[in-house]
Amino acid sequence: MSRQIVSLELNRWQPAADAPTTQQVADALEAGQVLYLPRLAFQLRGEEQRFLDPRWSDGRAKNISHDPATGTLKGARGNRADLEDLQAMVARFHRQSLGLVGALLPHYLPHLHGARASLRTMAVARRKTSWRKDDSRLHVDAFPSRPTHGERILRVFANVNPRGAERVWRVGEAFPQLAERFFPRLKAPLPGSAALLALLGITKTRRSPYDHYMLHLHDAMKADLKYQREAPQERFGFAAGSVWLCFSDQTSHAAMSGQHMFEQTVHLAVPGLYDASRGPLAILERLAGRKLI
Ligand code: SIN
Ligand code: FE
Repeated sequence: MSRQIVSLELNRWQPAADAPTTQQVADALEAGQVLYLPRLAFQLRGEEQRFLDPRWSDGRAKNISHDPATGTLKGARGNRADLEDLQAMVARFHRQSLGLVGALLPHYLPHLHGARASLRTMAVARRKTSWRKDDSRLHVDAFPSRPTHGERILRVFANVNPRGAERVWRVGEAFPQLAERFFPRLKAPLPGSAALLALLGITKTRRSPYDHYMLHLHDAMKADLKYQREAPQERFGFAAGSVWLCFSDQTSHAAMSGQHMFEQTVHLAVPGLYDASRGPLAILERLAGRKLI
C-alpha cells in the first residue's frame, strides 16, 4: 500500500463529486499526496494518434504547449491544418482538466486560473539536460523566471502512451520533512536581489522571498546525490490510459521513464486552499519565522 499515492475509481472528466469525495481529494492533494485516477483516460480521436510522435516538435522546445491566454500553440511544426488539429487536441485536454479540478474541488474555482497545457512526446530517459533541469532527480517544482508569489502549482497529468508503457515516477518524502531537512542549508535572499533580477529581466516579476526559498530548495534537492539515493521514496508506475494530479510545488517527484503525456498546470491562489496551513508557504514561513510574501 502506497503512502504517497491515493487512488480513486472515477471514470468521468466531470464527475458528480459528493462532499465526502471533495474532502478526500482536498485532504490528499493538500497533504502533498498524488491523486491517482487509474480509470480516467484522456481519449484521443482516431486521427489524433498521429500526434503521439516527437516529429511534431519544432526541435527547440521540450514540449508542445497551448497557452489559453493567447490561444497560441508553441513548440510544434507542421502544416496549418495539422497544427490546428494539434491545438484543438491540446485545448481539449486543457478544458477537460480544468473541468475535472472544478468538479472535484469546487472551492478552488473562484481562485484558480489555468496556465499552459503541454504535450510531452519525448521519452523521459532520453532527455539530456543539466542537473538543474534534470527532472529524473527528486524535486519540487519552482521555476527561475516565473515567480508565483505563493500561488500554488497544481498539475494534471495524463499518460496516453499508445503501446501501454507506464510513466514511472519516484515520489519522495512529505513537504514538512523535506523543508525541515533542507531549510537550514538554504541561503536567505540578499537585500535588493529581487529588484535586480527583475531589472535584468531574469524574472518576469519580482521574486518574492517565498520564490527564493522554493527555487533554492529545488536546486538543493537536485544537487544532493546522496539525498537522491537515500531519501525516503517510492517508485510508482502510472498506467497508460490514466490520469493523476498533484501539487507539484509540494510533492517531491522525479520522472524516471515513459513517453507521451499531457500535462495541465493550474495556478491556485492561497486563499482557495481548504487548509492553507499545510502548504509550502505556511511551512516555510514557520521555519523562517517571518512572512515570505
Ligand atoms: C516533472 O514535472 O518534473 C516531470 C513530470 C514528467 O515528465 O512525468
Ligand atoms: Fe517537476
